[in-house]
Amino acid sequence: MTADHIIFPQTVSELRANIMGIDAEAPVLDGTTLPYVFLDNGASTPAFRQVFQVLERFMQYYSAVHRGTGFKAILATEAFDEAHAVAGRFVHADLERNTVIFLKNTTEAVNKLANRTRWRDGDVVITTLMEHHSNDLPWRKYARVVHVGVNDFGYLDMRSLRDAFEQYKNNVRILCVTGASNITGIVNPVHELAELAHRYGAMIFVDAAQLVPHRSIDVLPNHDPGHIDFLAYSAHKMYAPFGTGVLIGPTDWFMEGDPDMVGGGVVEIVEEDFVAWSPPPAREEAGSTNVPGGIALAAAIRVLEGVGLDAIAEHERALIAYAVEKLREVPGLTIYGPGKDSLEDKVGVLTFNIQDVPHSLVASILSCEGAVGVRNGCFCAHPYVKRLLKFNEDNAKAVTAEILGGNRTNLPGMVRASFGCYNNRDDIDRLAEMLCVVARKQYKGTYRLDRASGSYWPEGFRYPLHDYFPYLSFTEAAVADTYAGKT
Ligand SMILES: Cc1ncc(COP(=O)(O)O)c(C=O)c1O
Repeated sequence: MTADHIIFPQTVSELRANIMGIDAEAPVLDGTTLPYVFLDNGASTPAFRQVFQVLERFMQYYSAVHRGTGFKAILATEAFDEAHAVAGRFVHADLERNTVIFLKNTTEAVNKLANRTRWRDGDVVITTLMEHHSNDLPWRKYARVVHVGVNDFGYLDMRSLRDAFEQYKNNVRILCVTGASNITGIVNPVHELAELAHRYGAMIFVDAAQLVPHRSIDVLPNHDPGHIDFLAYSAHKMYAPFGTGVLIGPTDWFMEGDPDMVGGGVVEIVEEDFVAWSPPPAREEAGSTNVPGGIALAAAIRVLEGVGLDAIAEHERALIAYAVEKLREVPGLTIYGPGKDSLEDKVGVLTFNIQDVPHSLVASILSCEGAVGVRNGCFCAHPYVKRLLKFNEDNAKAVTAEILGGNRTNLPGMVRASFGCYNNRDDIDRLAEMLCVVARKQYKGTYRLDRASGSYWPEGFRYPLHDYFPYLSFTEAAVADTYAGKT
C-alpha cells in the first residue's frame, strides 16, 4: 500500500497554484489568447487540485454504498459516511443531535426542508428581500411568505424584521435567511437572527451557500439560543464541483413524517402494505447517491481547513478592499451594496454598473476582449437587484411586461465580479483595466444586441471551442449564435 502522496496546501499563498485550470488561456477578439481571469466564483468555483487527486485515488475503489459486499463497497461506504461527518463538523454541528444530508446543491436542500416541514394552517415563513430565489420560491409552495426589506445599501432592515415577528408572532414557523448575499456580499448576523427567531418559538434556516467558502461558521450547540437549526451549502461553490449539496438539521426532526422522495435506500423493511423508513440521513437520500461528490466535498474541506478559513477571510478582505479602490478609478462606475468603509462584513462579491453602458455589454466586452469571466443580470435574486437599482413598482411591472413579450433589451441587472480564495491583485488589475476600456469606449468590437436574450455579441467573432475541448459535437457557429441569442 502506497503512502498518501497528495500534498495539501497550508497557506493562502499556496492555493492559487493548486487551482485546476489556473493557467488556462482564452481566445479574444483580436485573434490572440490571454490568461483567463475567472471572477465568477459566486456561481461555481474551479476545483482544488487536491480534490481531483483524492477523487482519482478514490475511483480505484469506487462502489455503490450501503448496498454491496466486498472490499470496495466497504471502503466506499466508510469514506462516504465519513464525508457526511466532515461536512457537519465543518460548521461545528453536534453530530449526536444533528444529521447531515447530501443532496445535489443548496436549491435541493431548501426544497427538501420545505417539503419535509410538517406545515400547519396559518404558518408564516419570514424571509428577506436579499435572498437568492432558492431561499424564497420553495417556501412559497407551502406557506405565507413575508419578505423583510433592506436599506439602500442592501442591509437587512432589522426593525422591519422585528416588526414582522411581532405581527405574525406564534404563526412564524421559520426564519429563512442568507448567511451572505450573492449580490452585495453582505454577511448577516445569523446568531442574532437565530436568537430573535427562537424568542418567537420559530426555527431558523441559514442559506450558507455564499458564506462557507469565505468564513468559518459555527452553528453552535442545539441548546444555545443563537443555534442555527438548519443550514445548507453547496460543494460546487467551495472548490469541489462534483454535484453535492449539504443540508444539516436536527435528526429528530427528520425522523418524523415520510421522506419527500421515496424508493431504494430509504427503508429498513418493506412489506406489500407496510414500510419502515431508515433513520436519517439515508431516509432523505433516496436512490443511488453521488458518492464521488461527497468524497470531493470532504477533500475540499480538508484544503480549506488546512489553510484556515480565518486566513482565507483575511486574504479576501484585503482583495475586496483593493478591488473597491481600483474600481473607483473607472469613470462612471457605481458599486452596489456596502460603501468602502464597511467592507468588514462582506464576502468577496462586487456588483456594479457603468453609466450608460448596459450590464450585458460590459460583461460581453470583458469576456470577448479581456478574457475576464464575470456574470451579469439579476443573479437569481430579482427582487433584491431591483431594490438596489431603485426600481419602483411601475418600472418593475413595465420591464416584466417587456420581458414576457420577448424583449429583454431593458432587463434590469448589474455586473458581478466574485472572488475566491485564490484570486489575486493581478486578476483585479485586469478587471479594472478592462472596465476602463469599456467606460472610455476604447473597445474594438462592434457589439450587436439580441433583443430576445438581451445579450451583446461582437460581429464576426467565434470562440474556437473545438481547439480547446475537442469532444464537442456542435459547431462553433451554433455556439456563437446561442450566446448572441439567435437560437
Ligand atoms: C446565496 C445563494 N443561495 C443559494 C444558491 C443556490 O445554490 P445552488 O445553485 O448550489 O443550488 C446560490 C447560488 O448561486 C446562492 O448564491
